[in-house]
Amino acid sequence: MSSTAHSKLKINAGRLLSRLDELGRVGARGDGGLHRLAASDADRDGRGLLADWMRAAGLEVRVDEIGNMFGIRAAAADLPAVMSGSHIDTVSGGGKYDGSYGVLAALESAETLNDADVATGRPFIVACFTNEEGVRYQPDMMGSLVYAGGLSAADALATKSEDGTTLGRELERIGYAGDMVCGSIVPSAFVELHIEQGPVLEREATVIGAVETLQGISWTEFKLSGQANHAGTTPMALRRDAGYCAAAIAVEARRIADEIGPSQVATVGVMELEPGSINVVPSAARLTVDLRNASNKALVRAEEMLDRFARDLAARENVELTSRRLARFDPVSFDDVIVAIIENTATGLGHAVRRMTSGAGHDAQMMARICPTAMIFVPSRDGISHNPAEHTDDQHLVDGANVLLQTVLNLSAGGA
Ligand code: GLV
Ligand code: MN
Ligand code: MN
Repeated sequence: MSSTAHSKLKINAGRLLSRLDELGRVGARGDGGLHRLAASDADRDGRGLLADWMRAAGLEVRVDEIGNMFGIRAAAADLPAVMSGSHIDTVSGGGKYDGSYGVLAALESAETLNDADVATGRPFIVACFTNEEGVRYQPDMMGSLVYAGGLSAADALATKSEDGTTLGRELERIGYAGDMVCGSIVPSAFVELHIEQGPVLEREATVIGAVETLQGISWTEFKLSGQANHAGTTPMALRRDAGYCAAAIAVEARRIADEIGPSQVATVGVMELEPGSINVVPSAARLTVDLRNASNKALVRAEEMLDRFARDLAARENVELTSRRLARFDPVSFDDVIVAIIENTATGLGHAVRRMTSGAGHDAQMMARICPTAMIFVPSRDGISHNPAEHTDDQHLVDGANVLLQTVLNLSAGGA
């Protein structure tokens, strides 16, 4: 088949969309939200579906030590492979597109190549990384971080969850503790297709985002320990109120974001109080703070401001404070050449395209440590994600997958 014929290749839209629906039912709760946390039973069931589809497509399925799954489409020449993929774990109450779309569109690209009998110069690998969301085990992007050498497999497998489980044992339990050595296949390029999860593309009526940068991420857990006491009889000045301190830290995180400006975002996603009774001063509190900024300097400033505030507050309120960085990733710049290929491919297919920054964390930011990498975004309705209402129009899903297919064809043509 000529390269002109390759440029006319289109993915099978019906197959991609029906698989998104089928995978989107695995781990679904009554409210339609997905609860497919990493290494859970639902994750096992989703992985099983994916492995079946990979095998049916003739891909060689391999699983590495941290449970990352790879579906390999061979090429005649023994060249470094092009890799594309994402994750299928979800947050609690997630949507069906976050992660799954990138994995299934990569699989769809491989099958489209099969159907058209296209022999690529380089092998093509469909990747599904373990625990991208980082809800059950921290840090997030864990599977790709280990794959890229940023954390040892042993340390990652030993990670404990607040639910008392250990990742390594859970992966064994669900049958996805593999033996492929992490990082043993270093791709020539990595491309991740993902929904934007923000409002930019929709607002500008743009279909394709060529993602050139990704903002830095800082996750901290604060634990406060005070003294339970009677809510009616304990004078305010004598309280050691862990709940008040947690609330003050949450308010300060928002204040810091306002002070630094719109590039800074701050979220308190978890706040737990003990004993949790209406008439008892809380003796203990745990909260998590997610800080992000595209400027590392600004992110460090936000971290320092919040850490100092929490320390001073705890001293003033006679409460013990411990804090732990659960995740810390610098901002990332993707590969100029691949970003330009994505941009040109999208333009060539007649789509409005813009370069952009990713506000969310992605496996691509880890893969960028070991090979040239970039991302493709498609619009998210109302910019909503990490929510069952997450939605991307079918046409945009298909458009993004076709941009991915052509980008993969371009990158896997072979050569040196
Ligand atoms: C991953 O979804 C993240 O950005 O938190
Ligand atoms: Mn994702
Ligand atoms: Mn996510």
